Amino acid sequence: MDAKRSIAETLLDWYDRHARTLPWRAPPGVRPDPYRVWLSEVMLQQTTVATVRPRFEAWVARWPDVASLAAADEADVMAAWAGLGYYARARNLVRAAKAIAADHGGKLPDTEDALRALPGLGDYTAAAVAAIAFGRRAVVIDANVERVVSRLCRAAGKPAVRRAAEALTPDQRAGDFAQAMMDLGSAICSPKRPKCLLCPLADACAAHRAGEEEAFPVKPAKKPRPTRHGTIFWLERAAAGGGLEVLLVRRPAKGLLGGMRALPTGPWTETQPGLAEAPAAADWTMLNQQVSHGFTHFTLELALAVARWDAHSAPIAAEWWRVDDLAAAGLPTVFAKAAKAIGRVR
Ligand code: ADE
Ligand code: SF4
Repeated sequence: MDAKRSIAETLLDWYDRHARTLPWRAPPGVRPDPYRVWLSEVMLQQTTVATVRPRFEAWVARWPDVASLAAADEADVMAAWAGLGYYARARNLVRAAKAIAADHGGKLPDTEDALRALPGLGDYTAAAVAAIAFGRRAVVIDANVERVVSRLCRAAGKPAVRRAAEALTPDQRAGDFAQAMMDLGSAICSPKRPKCLLCPLADACAAHRAGEEEAFPVKPAKKPRPTRHGTIFWLERAAAGGGLEVLLVRRPAKGLLGGMRALPTGPWTETQPGLAEAPAAADWTMLNQQVSHGFTHFTLELALAVARWDAHSAPIAAEWWRVDDLAAAGLPTVFAKAAKAIGRVR
């Protein structure tokens, strides 16, 4: 790298040649659709590009703009989010779309501050949308950017990384700059064994010069995640036209997997709760198989209880769902895993 050229200039040149083509992006230098940028940044917060890509395409085919999302049925939106995790993101998308329709004439506001005032838009999303969709100078730091910047500047800890990113971010093309960092982090500056020989910034990289690439980013010591226990209840009955139906409930709006359609569960407890809070009095069999699923703050170990139901009514606040159509129920991953473990669904 020419010593006189800034890191930003060199990186933007690299991006002009190597930018990934992604469905929410416009070519380098062109402004993309703010709605698509917002949606993609929310989807990408806890989910990989490979997973997001087809889900993003399906989503924008169904809800192509703010107005259609603002008018969407929240239950449909929650079901469409199934499998992406962190379901508050989906509920906040609808709330923010309604606010944008009501207060901003259906167009996303174009400053970081106004974006941050919308439901679910935190510092990261507000900065990313302001920079990528509106060309504002904003400092965008996701995990890829954190890794690249911490290595370039040997910056240890989040405040130091933020200061370094502030100093590196150019006045023009801050959105392309952020996405260039993301692409470099994804393709070249990988967590393990970064491909420094291919890196356009190698001459300017402090960690590379010191041969300590993998020492950055410096991570704070992880707190161990506690384990909690629970039971998932699979209550099935013969369907009127043949086949099987299973009892599904809608989870309370507040709390884990809030508002999602689900298999009934009992309480989350320190020790296995067995049949506590079963959805109906039935002849339950506990399977000698468990399902485990990691959430942000704890890991759930779930026992599986199975029973047959011969009465016609569903227990209150529940619905019968055809087992061969279970994929359409929009169940969160933990319940899809349980259904598979129980062996009724492939
Ligand atoms: N991860 C988060 N935002 C992204 C973007 N705009 N492009 C690629 N990866 C991303
Ligand atoms: Fe990352 Fe290596 Fe490039 Fe430094 S030189 S930014 S460590 S790929």
